[in-house]
Amino acid sequence: MKTALIAGVTGQDGSYLAELLLEKGYSVYGIIRRKSKADYGNAEHIKDKINFIYADMTDLVSLVNAMKVSQADEVYNLAAQSFVGTSWEQPIATANIDGFGVANMLEAIRTVKASARFYQASTSEMFGLVQEIPQTENTSFYPRSPYGVAKLYGHWITKNYRESYNLYACSGILFNHESERRGKEFVTRKITDAVARIKQGILNILELGNMDSKRDWGHAKDYVYAMWLMLQQEKPDDYVIATNETRSVREFVETAFNYVDIKIAWEGSGVDEIGRDAIAGRTIVKVNPKFFRPAEVEALLGNPAKAEKELGWKRKITFPELVRRMVGNDMALVANELNCRKL
Ligand code: GDD
Repeated sequence: MKTALIAGVTGQDGSYLAELLLEKGYSVYGIIRRKSKADYGNAEHIKDKINFIYADMTDLVSLVNAMKVSQADEVYNLAAQSFVGTSWEQPIATANIDGFGVANMLEAIRTVKASARFYQASTSEMFGLVQEIPQTENTSFYPRSPYGVAKLYGHWITKNYRESYNLYACSGILFNHESERRGKEFVTRKITDAVARIKQGILNILELGNMDSKRDWGHAKDYVYAMWLMLQQEKPDDYVIATNETRSVREFVETAFNYVDIKIAWEGSGVDEIGRDAIAGRTIVKVNPKFFRPAEVEALLGNPAKAEKELGWKRKITFPELVRRMVGNDMALVANELNCRKL
């Protein structure tokens, strides 16, 4: 039986990865931060199957302990301050967790069990102001946020430890991946939650920032499978995981409303752009500049050809299916919320 240690196990990706590894018969350890009230987040439903260890990415001693206790064969670092917007408000915390935290984990592995295989959650945010389209493993990086800069350090320190100490250490350069478990601060879930609330009459308007922004959106479940594949190869390497399709935030909005039979008619431009319910006529989407970012990543499009060829990875869940699942899930959650209010 293999043993895995997941940092970030309570998050979207961590919970899907834990499910996958449990299915494969792994003994799963998960790193959790101590809070006054225990919070298992997205891993609540499988909490009895996971061995939790209290640790923190900024505390090397705690990571050394996590390695000693778990004796993990595979370590997945999915822990991060993962919201790009917050990284301007907390640039130093973001650097400590998303950057130096990776060095801490690598040191813990190197000193406790150097044979352990390591997965680092790198990100398409490192491409930022994109230097070529589509982006591949060979595209130059140009991060545009404190988050992207911190992640770039994590990416390079992983590569450096691979080359310096011959560790089996990989980075997955993952493009945006969403799901029913996505936090509501991210644009996709913010949209699907608002669509469900507008449809069920408890919200009037969805306010967004830059709707021209384009992303390559896949489903997190497909992406955690790629993480696992990366640690099953003969040699460690870095891989882009993406769908090779890009869509604007505006297109996401249209697709999501479509699933609840609302067609959007767009009017105006820039900060004055609004989206009306084409039948009812009322405004249901508008721009609020407070959601603009100090520096924006305008468009991301990833080419996963290397992962498809070398790992045999292929995404299964298409964009329409991703949006359908998210809207369906939020429609049910909001209906349930309304029922509870009536009781
Ligand atoms: N969050 C948010 N809220 N984003 C908005 C809004 C809004 O109201 N309106 C427009 N956007 C735009 C953002 O400006 C950005 O261009 C895009 O929607 C996507 O924003 P997010 O969903 O917050 O994700 P992200 O692309 O910044 O970062 C995600 O993907 C990265 C991979 O590329 C996160 O998951 C990161 O952790 C991940 O590394």
